[in-house]
Amino acid sequence: MLVLGIESSCDETAAALVTADRTIVAQAIASQDADHAPFGGVVPEIAARAHAERLTPMIERVLAEAQVTLADCDAIAATAGPGLIGGVMVGLVTAKALAMAGDKPLLAINHLEGHALSPRLADPALAFPYALLLVSGGHCQLLRVDGVGRYTRIATTIDDALGEAFDKTAKILGLGFPGGPAVERHAATGDPRAVPLPRPLFGSAEPHFSFAGLKSAVLRAQDSGLHATADIAASFQRVAIDCLLDRTRRGLAGMGPVGALVVAGGVASNRAVRAALEGLAADHDLRFVAPPPSLCTDNAAMIAWAGIERLQAGFASDPLDISARPRWPLDPAAEPVRGAGVKG
Ligand code: KG4
Ligand code: ZN
Repeated sequence: MLVLGIESSCDETAAALVTADRTIVAQAIASQDADHAPFGGVVPEIAARAHAERLTPMIERVLAEAQVTLADCDAIAATAGPGLIGGVMVGLVTAKALAMAGDKPLLAINHLEGHALSPRLADPALAFPYALLLVSGGHCQLLRVDGVGRYTRIATTIDDALGEAFDKTAKILGLGFPGGPAVERHAATGDPRAVPLPRPLFGSAEPHFSFAGLKSAVLRAQDSGLHATADIAASFQRVAIDCLLDRTRRGLAGMGPVGALVVAGGVASNRAVRAALEGLAADHDLRFVAPPPSLCTDNAAMIAWAGIERLQAGFASDPLDISARPRWPLDPAAEPVRGAGVKG
């Protein structure tokens, strides 16, 4: 089985061809960092236009590189949400056109399901159920994954996502965009104990996450003029990880037995985050699984793979009139949590 995957939900335009035996036959990713950098964040209109310009030629290149044509693909999988709606529509409409032209099944993929199943693309031995920490720019959630399409949200952030906190910290410190990798680089040379910072929700009974107060404290530390940039970055990263571990520990306690602790999403490419979670998994006698960094940040191989998993699990393909969804929680039954700016 060969599936073409398309990703366009944020600021990465991506296409990939993946087979059921977990081979990424060909893939391409175009980052829009340079387009958005002058604005210090992703501008939806610019993102949508860039996806529209780049996606079709990219798909042609990926097919050519794999020496296949549309006729050789068994299905077309595209992110249908959640994300910036203009970009999602570009990818989904392109997938619909290809599905129609080639008479192929269309698979409208939840971007979060792409992240959630990406560790199984990287690791054939990863079996359900597992605990999934999904840490990206838009989401910070702990989920119990019992199978394809079977997600129970245990915890979510009541304000900012962890990646968002890294990005805002980078902006406050003037480290540029995208922020996560820049904060990680500067943190490596700083003293993680130099700057006292708060630990929002640390020790609280509910397993939810909160990072907005930490970000505000970073702003105060920067404005005080008392601290070196690297020290603030290192202290932020350390405290953010402390909170992540404390909250995840709490969530694991109430989740029932699972075989592995799995981390996915852009922040999972951070080495300090990975190392800390690996230790937490060991404390709980759990296997630790983290996809390679190229599969953690947004990519189309995870979208193609989610399509393959859905087909193999017996899910039907999607109708050509399916809509793009700006919001699309993995666990629709999960209650909203208290706090402003709640992220599904
Ligand atoms: O999964 P992703 O590529 O896109 C979303 O679906 O959001 O995640 C992007 C997020 C950004 O907030 C970015 O700053 C963060 O992941 N990120 C990192 C690192 N690399 C990417 N955060 C911390 N350390 C990193 N090395
Ligand atoms: Zn993502």
